[in-house]
Amino acid sequence: MTTTNEAMRNKTAPEGPAPQDAKSVVELKGTGKSYGNIRALHGVDLKVSPGRVSCVLGDNGAGKSTLIKIISGLHQHTEGEFLVDGRPVRFSTPREALDAGIATVYQDLATVPLMPVWRNFFLGSEMTKGSWPLRRLDIEQMKKTADHELREMGIVLDNLEQPIGTLSGGQRQCVAIARAVYFGARVLILDEPTAALGVKQSGVVLKYVAAARDRGLGVIFITHNPHHAYMVGDHFSVLRLGTMELRASRDKVSLEELTNHMAGGAELASLKHELAQVRGVNVEELPEEDLTAPKTSTGDAAD
Ligand SMILES: Nc1ncnc2c1ncn2[C@@H]1O[C@H](COP(=O)(O)OP(=O)(O)OP(=O)(O)O)[C@@H](O)[C@H]1O
Ligand SMILES: [Mg+2]
Repeated sequence: MTTTNEAMRNKTAPEGPAPQDAKSVVELKGTGKSYGNIRALHGVDLKVSPGRVSCVLGDNGAGKSTLIKIISGLHQHTEGEFLVDGRPVRFSTPREALDAGIATVYQDLATVPLMPVWRNFFLGSEMTKGSWPLRRLDIEQMKKTADHELREMGIVLDNLEQPIGTLSGGQRQCVAIARAVYFGARVLILDEPTAALGVKQSGVVLKYVAAARDRGLGVIFITHNPHHAYMVGDHFSVLRLGTMELRASRDKVSLEELTNHMAGGAELASLKHELAQVRGVNVEELPEEDLTAPKTSTGDAAD
């Protein structure tokens, strides 16, 4: 009989970077979601391929969490299509998404702070030995495996017995990434993993995002921060008020353009006149109104 661990590990994607034109594992086509009368997401297209990092940027309320909730099986889409390995799916639980190889690392990590690092690594999928009724936790094997897996990802912790709550936020994110890789994720969704971190810790987390990508995982990296996105991203999508206002691969967009989109270049430019009245605000550095991208219709045309 295979354990859950073995079954999930067998699904691990082949190691090494995937070719650029690898088929997408997850694809959204015109996908949307309404909560009652509220349309949180509309007409979203997204492709996630092995060995590539797809960044999803957007301001508060843009629909980022709604998007990942659909992919991770927490919510169901109400418009368009959601495909996994080219087949339309509709997950009813996060377990179904996980079984399809889609792992999500939430910002408020689901860890038990007082339990040791190794115990958290295996939380919910513990290794056991012996057969019923003498089955018990295989503590030695779990410690050995957690240590090996963390080292494989280049994460060196002095002591795996320390409570995970004593690690820094960045280290905890890294343990969660290594865990998803070990349990055979093919797609890794990271919800703002660097939002609460300082510069150095963010750099460490970005390093492991790249390590997961190099192991052949397709990564969806949700962030507010265009600089972090540009450091590891192969493809960028910017959400605004539930729709995608920009979709571009790395060679089609510069960091400046991405920053301008995220900073709301058009809005800032139109505020320039008013901001000029405020003491201490240097409007010279704000974009000119006519330098911003042409505004696209947002569907308010009379019909
Ligand atoms: N369960 C829900 N019921 C009703 N409306 C919701 C629900 N969840 C989200 N929304 C609405 O959908 C829109 C998008 O929200 P979402 O949480 O996806 O944004 P976000 O990009 O993740 O924002 P943040 O950066 O603040 O986390 C918001 O207007 C929000 O109020
Ligand atoms: Mg959110």
